[in-house]
Amino acid sequence: MRSHYCGDVNETLDGQTVTVAGWMHRRRDHGGVIFIDLRDREGLVQIVCNPEDAESFAIAERVRSEYVLQIEGEVRLRPEGSDNADLSSGKIEIVAKRVDILNSSETPPFPLTEQAEVSEDVRLRHRYIDLRRPEMQQKMRFRSKITTQLRRYLDDNGFLDIETPILTKATPEGARDYLVPSRTHQGDFFALPQSPQLFKQLLMVSGMDRYYQIVRCFRDEDLRADRQPEFTQVDIETSFVEEEDLMNMMEEMIRSLFANVLEQPLPNPFPRMTYAEAMARYGSDKPDLRIDLELVEISDLMKEVDFKVFSGPANDEKGRVAALRVPGGASLSRKQIDDYTKYVSIYGAKGLAYIKVNDLDAGREGLQSPILKFIPDDVVDAIMKRTEAQTGDLVFFGADNANIVNEAIGALRIKVGHDLDLVKHGWQPLWVVAFPMFEWDDKSDRWMALHHPFTAPRESDLGLLETDPGKCLSRAYDMVLNGTELGGGSMRIHQADVQSKVFELLGISKEEADDKFGFLLEALKFGCPPHGGLAFGLDRLAMLMTGSASIRDVMAFPKTQSASCLLTDAPSSVSEPQLKELNIRLRKAPVIAETSSE
Ligand code: AMO
Ligand code: AMP
Repeated sequence: MRSHYCGDVNETLDGQTVTVAGWMHRRRDHGGVIFIDLRDREGLVQIVCNPEDAESFAIAERVRSEYVLQIEGEVRLRPEGSDNADLSSGKIEIVAKRVDILNSSETPPFPLTEQAEVSEDVRLRHRYIDLRRPEMQQKMRFRSKITTQLRRYLDDNGFLDIETPILTKATPEGARDYLVPSRTHQGDFFALPQSPQLFKQLLMVSGMDRYYQIVRCFRDEDLRADRQPEFTQVDIETSFVEEEDLMNMMEEMIRSLFANVLEQPLPNPFPRMTYAEAMARYGSDKPDLRIDLELVEISDLMKEVDFKVFSGPANDEKGRVAALRVPGGASLSRKQIDDYTKYVSIYGAKGLAYIKVNDLDAGREGLQSPILKFIPDDVVDAIMKRTEAQTGDLVFFGADNANIVNEAIGALRIKVGHDLDLVKHGWQPLWVVAFPMFEWDDKSDRWMALHHPFTAPRESDLGLLETDPGKCLSRAYDMVLNGTELGGGSMRIHQADVQSKVFELLGISKEEADDKFGFLLEALKFGCPPHGGLAFGLDRLAMLMTGSASIRDVMAFPKTQSASCLLTDAPSSVSEPQLKELNIRLRKAPVIAETSSE
């Protein structure tokens, strides 16, 4: 139906007859001559309809926004001075000889011509139109480039693309499962995979050696800008490797992706940081290294102070007192500090103490703070020294149990960094390593796996499984880029007895382990090779690489914050006969869920 894409028509075609097809983007009536900007995937081209050509002119008069047109015409250079440098076709125009309307269009729900402020709900409701916008087209193309590039790298390195089931059994990755009722086994349910974790391990038992899959995963969890209920992983597993081999290869893959698709270099090698160091310095296991601000440990200085808010956590082994120096922060207003106090309260902080350093050389007189009266001179001096505070700075303090301080002051660090324009440009990838195997969960009063329960403990820490599980480190690694966890993985447990021990530690009884993971425990007995792997979040990778604010912007048909699809209205009720067939009866009338996308 066409000889060229609109965006591909250029001056090399001067004098030739071409046929283009696309959407009517904009129409201008210039004293008898009608100009149409015709748009397709590759861009815009200007069509000129002259009144002398009565038939096509009459049609051109009728076309409206988003009509689908096929136009045949002759390419000619635009008159002197009317070039459009923004368009690849900006030096030429097509003089229409024939205009055909292939389809009409109702007035679109929002204009595609300018950057109109359109609510995300409206965009998602009419996503097929939203995706026509050049910005969204670019993002979808970019995402496709990423997967093409990754596939190429993995193919070149001997990875086999193997599909794994979507209707399956629960794979614990820390979220709730999406369940699918079985008709043929009434009362039983499939779970949609939170990841293909167990299948990829089984593929290693099967001798596939190197596996990858670009695969949809499903997690029913609280959604945020970088989380969706269904999302895509670039999932990878390899046999007969150790951490170093795998991390080097994955790093290389990401480096070549950035080099080939963005033409931007990433560091070689990526820096590595232990989990303990990341928590101590950044309060986070996915530190954004573009921001130089750091948490400074001052628990030891606060043990003796006559201020319970600080001395309490300082003397509690689960507590932490940390300081965050904000360069130039002395100019923050009372209101700004109150706003930050409110901000950290989201993370459970009960307050946000601070010291303004108005004049460092003036001693106590030069400092301004609601807590100064509680803190003796030598401790104030030590805080100033340790935080390297300068005149004009402000130092924030967090005191509580370590988790709250890390979350609250870690988040404050990012927020202040952005507010005060302290975020450096560029890419700051790193590996976070040496994660603990387990973390204690007070609510359920038991150990929880920090990654998933199939993560191998360090060889040297095996004994700690019996004696001190909290100190046992794992062979897991996360790749972090600009404060986002891009991917994570580990060397796996490949011995049945170690796997059983870990299940036991996690409070999974033998019966439960057999019921849920019996097939894995059995497979481990049949010659399972040492293996490991990782999974990248493709949506997050695309979000970062396109500079998008949310992964919704790089997904063709994302769901809202409340996990619904505004376009299809899913999830939706099903008919009584369908429920009957599945032997399901609803306990009460469904509650109408909210459908905002935030
Ligand atoms: P993990 O749970 O860390 O590991 O997931 C791997 C990566 O997937 C991305 N991701 C998400 N992206 C969007 N929305 C979500 N809800 C979401 N959840 C996770 C993140 C994350 O780093 N089976 C293991 C991997 C392994 O051990 O090999 C796993 O799934 O970018
Ligand atoms: P208060 O004694 O509760 O008035 O608190 C004195 C100062 O300490 C105020 O600036 C509070 O914001 C701050 N503060 C209270 N609790 C904490 C905490 N857990 N961590 C840090 N600062 C706190």
